[in-house]
Amino acid sequence: MARNGISRPYDIVLYGASGFVGRQTVAYLVEHAAALRWALAGRSKERLDAVRKACGADGAKLIVADATDERALDQLASRARVVLSTAGPFARYGSELVAACVRHGTHYVDITGETPWVHRMIVQHHAAAARHGTRIVPGCGFDSVPSDLGAWLVARALWQQHGERCVDVKACFSMRGGLNGGTLASALNALDTGDAKLMDDPFLLNPPGTAPTDAGAHADPLAPHRDTDFGAWVGPFVMGPINTRVVRRSAALLGAAPSADASPFAPSFRYQEYLRFGRGAAAALAAAGASAAMQAGRGAMKLKTARRLAAALAPAPGEGPSQRTMDRGSFRCELVARGERGAVVRGRIAGTGDPGNRATTRFVCEAALALVLDADALPGGHGLGGVLTPSTAFGDVLVRRLQAAGMTVETS
Ligand SMILES: NC(=O)c1ccc[n+]([C@@H]2O[C@H](COP(=O)([O-])OP(=O)(O)OC[C@H]3O[C@@H](n4cnc5c(N)ncnc54)[C@H](OP(=O)(O)O)[C@@H]3O)[C@@H](O)[C@H]2O)c1
Repeated sequence: MARNGISRPYDIVLYGASGFVGRQTVAYLVEHAAALRWALAGRSKERLDAVRKACGADGAKLIVADATDERALDQLASRARVVLSTAGPFARYGSELVAACVRHGTHYVDITGETPWVHRMIVQHHAAAARHGTRIVPGCGFDSVPSDLGAWLVARALWQQHGERCVDVKACFSMRGGLNGGTLASALNALDTGDAKLMDDPFLLNPPGTAPTDAGAHADPLAPHRDTDFGAWVGPFVMGPINTRVVRRSAALLGAAPSADASPFAPSFRYQEYLRFGRGAAAALAAAGASAAMQAGRGAMKLKTARRLAAALAPAPGEGPSQRTMDRGSFRCELVARGERGAVVRGRIAGTGDPGNRATTRFVCEAALALVLDADALPGGHGLGGVLTPSTAFGDVLVRRLQAAGMTVETS
């Protein structure tokens, strides 16, 4: 059972509060968690104090803890019921914090998209977190909530409405938004350290022994195609290699659970996702151009000089899109699920605001609030723990919270 409880001084400690996403997370919590006890944490007291003032978070306490300071992180984790981290690259600033949360039975959510780092956290901590009922949930931002919650939702609807297990889900994204310096820094860090090579494994996040024998058939798509389910040209989606591994972990975790009979996923389950380009010849050309550019970009990024150039031209860590870009952003994730006897269910997750900032902030804050306010309703009950995924950790609780927060989360 999770050891953390109401007696701890803070319901939520927000780590990385002075970063670009962190500042927006503070603003969200001011608006939606005023009745809770929470604290802002990070490496610099001055920067935390400035954020607290700027966001009107007057009641929030400050906790100073560098990402390498094990003692300070132990103290931080021991005083929180839930740690929410926005400090990335997570491969640089996240490992000691996760370890401290596992040591102290403190639930944890973050917004990482660094799959190789998540793989390491699974190897190092899944067993202990599972033993103690501690929920460690990476990937609670735009990577990978729409994909993961969406795939589970349509698969579950197939099971409930048609009595068929799900053999296939496809997702198709449309989005408008900007790029954060922190996101680029995280991607470049994975390339610099060699972590990115691990992404070749489509089942990198699966529990041992659960990857299918035909793993190669689940490789990330490289070319565009006209998809009849979506009635549009689609091509490789830049977040696909991240999100697909999370969805596959969810299916494997549910299939391996003691109540595996209730898993909506068939053992042969497949998941793939795409970027939508639209109909007609212009869309076909755009899809072909974008797919080729993505391939070329991936190739170029293997060169250190190209990475240094990208870092120099793009926003620096701490920077991100303008308010206007974030306000005018949006995303839409359409999903199609097929059952083992051919039944089809469609679903949709959509919202307004820049996906990497507005939507990400909403996703991760609602996940943290679910851990604090809806603990009795979470899937698996109080005893469920481990390095989990958004759908296995939160399920319907997060669906309802996102709907209440103004997002579209629905199945046909
Ligand atoms: N899932 C998604 O869709 C999504 C969306 C956006 C971002 N992200 C990810 O979220 C992460 C943050 O993005 P961002 O744009 O907010 O980046 P950012 O503005 O650069 O923020 C980085 C944060 O890390 C902190 N930090 C740096 N060194 C530290 C240290 N030694 N100890 C403790 N904290 C330290 C920074 O603190 P200081 O302020 O003191 O420098 C800052 O709070 C990135 O990994 C990015 O990839 C994910």
